[in-house]
Amino acid sequence: MLTPLLLLWPLSLALTWFVAQGIASKPFDRALEFNLQVLTRLVVLEEERIVFKLDSQARDLLRADTGDLVYYQVLGPRGELISGEVDMPRPGDEERPEPGRVMLRDEGMRGDEVRVAYTWLARNGSERLVLVQLAETKGKRSTLATEIIKGVMVPQFVILPLAVLLVWLALVRGIRPLNVLEQRIRARKPDDLSPIEESFVPQEVAPLVSSINDLLTRLKASLTTQKRFLADAAHQLKTPLAGLRMQAELAQREVDPMEIRGSLRQIARASTRATHTVNQLLALARAETTGRSLPNERIELSRLVRGVVQASVPRALEHGIDLGFEGPEETPENCLIDGNPTLLQEMVRNLLDNAINYSGQGGVVTVRVLLDRFSGVQILQVEDNGPGIPENERELVLQPFYRALGTNVDGSGLGLAIVQEIAQQHGAMVIMEDAHTERSPRGLRVSLRFAPFRPPVQE
Ligand SMILES: Nc1ncnc2c1ncn2[C@@H]1O[C@H](COP(=O)(O)OP(=O)(O)OP(=O)(O)O)[C@@H](O)[C@H]1O
Ligand SMILES: [Mg+2]
Repeated sequence: MLTPLLLLWPLSLALTWFVAQGIASKPFDRALEFNLQVLTRLVVLEEERIVFKLDSQARDLLRADTGDLVYYQVLGPRGELISGEVDMPRPGDEERPEPGRVMLRDEGMRGDEVRVAYTWLARNGSERLVLVQLAETKGKRSTLATEIIKGVMVPQFVILPLAVLLVWLALVRGIRPLNVLEQRIRARKPDDLSPIEESFVPQEVAPLVSSINDLLTRLKASLTTQKRFLADAAHQLKTPLAGLRMQAELAQREVDPMEIRGSLRQIARASTRATHTVNQLLALARAETTGRSLPNERIELSRLVRGVVQASVPRALEHGIDLGFEGPEETPENCLIDGNPTLLQEMVRNLLDNAINYSGQGGVVTVRVLLDRFSGVQILQVEDNGPGIPENERELVLQPFYRALGTNVDGSGLGLAIVQEIAQQHGAMVIMEDAHTERSPRGLRVSLRFAPFRPPVQE
């Protein structure tokens, strides 16, 4: 605040100087004009001659000024000197004489600055004009201007330091709560995400503090989710690993080759489960991170889904599942979607795995790509005739590690979380419904709606 205040001071002085000069010269201009008018009355325009009758009274009037030098000049129609000083500067040629009007201008004369009042006099009916000029030096004008400046400047010497002091005091007082706030924030423990108290902060900073509090709340929520996720992941891995160790110890003590073989089978199962969990964890991490950074491509959804279905045929046969695909042979240009093929494959694979795993022996799984050629919208459906998911669990199964009870299928509970993440990144929503409303089991139909890629309009 000090810098602008100190800069403003000289500026205000310069401004005062200009204003003071304007004010100071006004009364003196009036007096000069008046004296000029007195002089013009002394010019007598006779038939052929022009006479300037300067009587003693008028001479006194001119000399009445003590501080300044006064000059006058009377010029005839042809520019000849009738009375006064020869070397007085004349008005510029470009100026159009206006008889009877008194004008003012600034000039230099004999090394001094002078203020000149001048006018033209017209003889009756004649074009020829007589010029009368009266000049005075500017001594008393600048004296008055200086007086005004002094009158203004002296109080400023007092007011300015006072203003600086007041501003300083006010700022120190105003900023004190901020210092307190700073200390409180510094003193916080790294894991303290409780909101900052808003009551003691100044009104101006309250919105800032409130937005920081919002951020803290969101951070806390996201940290809690991450912590829970980490704990769940650790738990999911710990169980098969503990199983592994137990079976290995058991096998070491065992002598019966059949028992050893059984233990080895258990070990293989536990390690498969652990590997599956790790793979699913990695897939979820990949979906969360690469989805935003990988450049997207234009994808034929139908062809991509068909590829995944074909790759799953052996697994379906193994489970005794009737796996079918329904979708258009070709996708028109306007129906291509904008997305990441690796992630989309991962998503379809998870949906298909669920359908195959949970519908069980003799199940029927149908994967469908519905295409609306007009709007370009495509709907991916994965349908099975398994037990389905009860309505109240459809939200929950999308969360990581949530597994519905009552199945004997191995899994980590991450598949649908992966599906949800990838769908979100492609602007699609996961909708779950009964596949068959009229028979039991009702089965499950998972639908995802994709909007087509729209090239930006070229201007
Ligand atoms: N097609 C389905 N039919 C019946 N229940 C299903 C179906 N798909 C998912 N579920 C239920 O939703 C739960 C969550 O599924 P999700 O795919 O997320 O995990 P998961 O299959 O158990 O494990 P992962 O897919 O990681 O191997 C499953 O445990 C299952 O109970
Ligand atoms: Mg699954």
